[in-house]
Amino acid sequence: MHSLKAALFLLGLVPGLALAGTHLERRQTTGITVDLSKTYQTMDGFGTSEAFQRAVTMKRLSETEQRKFLDLMFSPEKGAALSILRNGIGSSPDMSDDHMVSIQPKNPGGPKAEPKYTWDKSDNGQLWVSTEAVYTYGVKTIYANAWSAPGYMKTNGNDANGGNLCGVSGASCSSGDWKQAYADYLVKYIQFYAAENITVTHLGFLNEPDLTTSYASMRSSGTQAADFIKVLRPTLDKANLGSVSINCCDSMGWSTMNTMLGQMRSVESMLGVATGHAYSSGPSSPLPVKTKTWMTEAADNNGAWTSAWYSNGGAGEGMTWANNIYSAITSGNVSAYLYWIGGQDRSSNTNSKLIRVVNKAVEPSKRLWAMANWSRFVRPGAVRVGASGSGVRTTAFRNVDGMVSVQVINSGNSERAMTITVGGGDFTAANSTAWVTDNKNDCSQIDASVDASGKVVTGKAPSRSMVTFVLRPAAKAY
Ligand SMILES: *[C@@H]1O[C@H](CO)[C@@H](O)[C@H](O)[C@H]1NC(C)=O
Ligand SMILES: *[C@@H]1O[C@H](CO)[C@@H](O)[C@H](O)[C@H]1NC(C)=O
Ligand SMILES: *[C@@H]1O[C@H](CO)[C@@H](O)[C@H](O)[C@H]1NC(C)=O
Ligand SMILES: *[C@@H]1O[C@H](CO)[C@@H](O)[C@H](O)[C@H]1NC(C)=O
Repeated sequence: MHSLKAALFLLGLVPGLALAGTHLERRQTTGITVDLSKTYQTMDGFGTSEAFQRAVTMKRLSETEQRKFLDLMFSPEKGAALSILRNGIGSSPDMSDDHMVSIQPKNPGGPKAEPKYTWDKSDNGQLWVSTEAVYTYGVKTIYANAWSAPGYMKTNGNDANGGNLCGVSGASCSSGDWKQAYADYLVKYIQFYAAENITVTHLGFLNEPDLTTSYASMRSSGTQAADFIKVLRPTLDKANLGSVSINCCDSMGWSTMNTMLGQMRSVESMLGVATGHAYSSGPSSPLPVKTKTWMTEAADNNGAWTSAWYSNGGAGEGMTWANNIYSAITSGNVSAYLYWIGGQDRSSNTNSKLIRVVNKAVEPSKRLWAMANWSRFVRPGAVRVGASGSGVRTTAFRNVDGMVSVQVINSGNSERAMTITVGGGDFTAANSTAWVTDNKNDCSQIDASVDASGKVVTGKAPSRSMVTFVLRPAAKAY
């Protein structure tokens, strides 16, 4: 680096001075440096859920609207290209209200009794969504997650209202120890899916174990989770399900996960993915584990439905979610980011979902498009690489197919010219495209040009926008 310009460039800012007629135009150019030699987490993808019979409500729509919904969720051309589906494993005796019915609704007669499983080929509507996701859209990651064990396996005899799994530390029941029976039950659920040709890749046995709710909920400390993982892992392995990853613990917030993981050191080698939600505290720092980390649930569950990209920075706006995802990836080291509900046709006016139904027609929010702006260009297997630039939030990923995508969030209220320099590896861009999302543009393609070296791309980021630059290599780079 010899020139003054290069030195300033390192500072991330080149004051672009241009004489235009009689006045001096001074426009800031943001320099972004992508460093391919600096690598971070490998991404598994982006996703959402159709649990609690949301899938049932979507399946009641006309075939045309069903297809629109599925396209919005999973299509890389027409929608968000989501690559992870989180299914709820039912624990309820029936399907009243939005309850998820269990594959063993009634107590078979104790933990040692012959199980009495049933399979309704619906799984609370989720088999339909899963089959579409996998066979129509090529989704490969299915996360099956139980909110609770069935009530008869728990200290409180109810799948709702908290309680513990009988047999974990500090939770003994007159009916006996249900740990093995619960592990067998979860294995059976995976086998029912396998018989439908759907591979469940990730399994969770807890949801928000730090919260008691009037719907399916089961409490657990990290110690109690470890007690169960010691039974679940060998049970999976014995059933030839060694490749199924155990996810734990989907706590309400990040700091609870931090505490729980501290109590789970003895089972760390059996843990596949550390999972946490972003409600009581968000993914603002990496969790203290060597495994991958997923942020498996977040949503604006209170705000009235909005389809704004940016209006005042409200909790349900698209740009807010583009920023939330940015923080989770860069500060929280997450390899996956899941919104709570994908689509639903239930009366609720909040932003708890990405897609709502109005007059029997599906309607996406900009939250869905915020997910899309990440998910389409950060594909499963993409490795996050170094990216820095001042005044904007930026990330970069090297995808499995060699494509490098660079995300830029410009939260400021003026346009910025961008110069992206790619270094640290043998990458030469043959061409570049850029996609802008702001209040006016719905992912419009904008100009981005590559210089002769194939290492420097120029473009711009309008005020309050997210721009993704897609750099395609001249030849497969590695
Ligand atoms: C699953 O795949 C097998 C082999 O291709 C096929 O014979 C079977 O009919 C499929 N089952 C279902 C439920 O799709
Ligand atoms: C980020 O997560 C990866 C696993 O995906 C892990 O290897 C790495 O150590 C984590 N980084 C930090 C800073 O915790
Ligand atoms: C980005 O978000 C906008 C909505 O603001 C959406 O119209 C667009 O399709 C999204 N881009 C991609 C690539 O999905
Ligand atoms: C960009 O370059 C790649 C690799 O040469 C090529 O496959 C692709 O068609 C090009 N895209 C555009 C938009 O020029």
